[in-house]
Amino acid sequence: MSAVSFHHVFKSFATPRGELQALKGVSFQVEQGEFFGLLGPNGAGKTTLISILAGLTRASSGSVEVLGSDVQRDYQAARRRLGVVPQELVFDPFFSVRETLRIQSGYFGIKNNGAWIDELLEGLGLADKAGANMRQLSGGMKRRVLVAQALVHQPPVIVLDEPTAGVDVELRQTLWRFVSKLNKQGSTVLLTTHYLEEAEALCGRIAMLKQGEVVALERTSELLRRAAANVLRFKTDETLPPDLAEIARTTGRFVQLPAPTAAEVERLLARLREAGIAPEDIEVSKADLEDVFLDVMANSHKPAPSPQAPPAVDDTTAEKTAASSEVAP
Ligand SMILES: Nc1ncnc2c1ncn2[C@@H]1O[C@H](COP(=O)(O)OP(=O)(O)OP(=O)(O)O)[C@@H](O)[C@H]1O
Ligand SMILES: [Mg+2]
Repeated sequence: MSAVSFHHVFKSFATPRGELQALKGVSFQVEQGEFFGLLGPNGAGKTTLISILAGLTRASSGSVEVLGSDVQRDYQAARRRLGVVPQELVFDPFFSVRETLRIQSGYFGIKNNGAWIDELLEGLGLADKAGANMRQLSGGMKRRVLVAQALVHQPPVIVLDEPTAGVDVELRQTLWRFVSKLNKQGSTVLLTTHYLEEAEALCGRIAMLKQGEVVALERTSELLRRAAANVLRFKTDETLPPDLAEIARTTGRFVQLPAPTAAEVERLLARLREAGIAPEDIEVSKADLEDVFLDVMANSHKPAPSPQAPPAVDDTTAEKTAASSEVAP
């Protein structure tokens, strides 16, 4: 039995500018005990998919199960097995941190949850804030409480929707230490994040979502191996010549150019010299998950599935096709 399974999930929203298809047939499974990453640019549909999983939004069609329980037909059972940390900060300003966690325990009918609440407060670095009022907490502290709240009933499946957005380095480390411990003890984790180095470090498998469709679904190591090409990294304040600018990934003065072979490294360095640029801190290294992500997003122009002609499946696309849907809504 999978921890989470999505079957041909479609979701459309009525908007003033017509129907918006936020999810176009998403199918994949997260197995028990996995640390699974769901990545995708803003608006890809990650939060929509998680809202459907959490029973907060209804899918237009398709179904979702948590450990075998359908999130609509068997809402109570599904909800009990899930701990969801929402992307948006929602909290009741009138309660203290400990009260918030006690009340949340009450929603699940759990009494005498004090020992686990203490462990959560300790593990998430909230012990000294237990008596503080929610409105007195900083944004990062509130996010910690949201995490604690999601875990209060010790759910076997933990869903984190951008838990580290706007969170400092220390909390990220505290959070990952705690969540990794739960994962080692058997909890399944489904994570969305825009910090790709986090996904690379934590997730065993990754699905990439683009405009409501799964465009990649593989083991993280496979994704990285696929883009194992080397890159040339350096710093410069100069403007690159157009031929290099076109293929470069630049962040401020950090520049990265694809350099699969030693000959290409030499050519690029010669080209820079020609252009009068003296690069600083040159290094040649492996492409990372961010490179893979950008590559997948740039090169996945999947045609919309047509109701007449079933999509062709060949060996190279089999995995992708299995990961997304072949049926029209
Ligand atoms: N209630 C709604 N009504 C109309 N459109 C919506 C609604 N909720 C989401 N959308 C749209 O659905 C699409 C997917 O949004 P979603 O929040 O799922 O994206 P996301 O992948 O979580 O993005 P982000 O990385 O920014 O959090 C977007 O185009 C969004 O504008
Ligand atoms: Mg989102």
